[in-house]
Amino acid sequence: MPLFPVERLAMTIQLKTADDIAKMRVAGRLAADVLDMIGPHIQPGVSTGELDRICHDYIVEQQKAVPAPLDYNGFPKSICTSVNHVICHGIPSDSKILKSGDTLNIDITVIKDGFHGDTSKMFCVGDAPEHARRLIRITQECLYRAIDIVKPGITLGDIGHVIQQHCEAHNYSIVREYCGHGIGRVFHEEPQVLHYGKPHNGPKIAAGMTFTIEPMLNAGTRYTKLSRKDGWTVTTKDRRLSAQWEHTLAVTADGCEVLTLRAEETL
Ligand code: MF3
Ligand code: CO
Ligand code: CO
Repeated sequence: MPLFPVERLAMTIQLKTADDIAKMRVAGRLAADVLDMIGPHIQPGVSTGELDRICHDYIVEQQKAVPAPLDYNGFPKSICTSVNHVICHGIPSDSKILKSGDTLNIDITVIKDGFHGDTSKMFCVGDAPEHARRLIRITQECLYRAIDIVKPGITLGDIGHVIQQHCEAHNYSIVREYCGHGIGRVFHEEPQVLHYGKPHNGPKIAAGMTFTIEPMLNAGTRYTKLSRKDGWTVTTKDRRLSAQWEHTLAVTADGCEVLTLRAEETL
């Protein structure tokens, strides 16, 4: 997500201890579980406000965890729900009723035992058109290709490069204003993980780093618009579709562990 330059006072990338990562494994699992739980509720006719309430109650009552978005820099709800041309940070609302053919990103961040787990997934409501499914599929492939190369010694530029390559090879565009991020006790910390870049550029990745990768791909141009009304909702400028998937990772000695992996995924 956005780390506005002014907020980036420290340029140090925190390395986590084995104990920290054990706690992040728990937080990551809980965030992934929320996505599994909410899936069957996504049906034509349900509102995004209702999805928010279901997730909130599940996180608080069943998981005994904290929904990180709630009150984060004034965000009013517990999850983000981004429908169709909304790129990210959509605010759940009782008046936003899902209809067949909509595409939806649900972004879940939970805090457990002081640590964050952050993950998002695309859903199709009823039957989505083939062009929408294709954008969603290529976006997920971008995330998976990036995860595939993560290991100590590669650079953040390498990650951005593989994402940008795969995206542009399919004539989609990569959103630049929002990015992945370091994560731990702090929701958004160093480094910024850009979804575009050049091989061998940028900071080197080391074992013990924990960060998200969360590419946003647009069907049309890459340009974004921030709602002046609510200060949060980010949409495509051309109002064409956008898709996003997100995982939280921990870098290991020889690769990475996906802390928010769901059972349905095979990497
Ligand atoms: N979960 C988002 C991310 O991937 C951040 C949401 S911040 C909120 O970084 F305030 F909009 F919830
Ligand atoms: Co994130
Ligand atoms: Co997120």
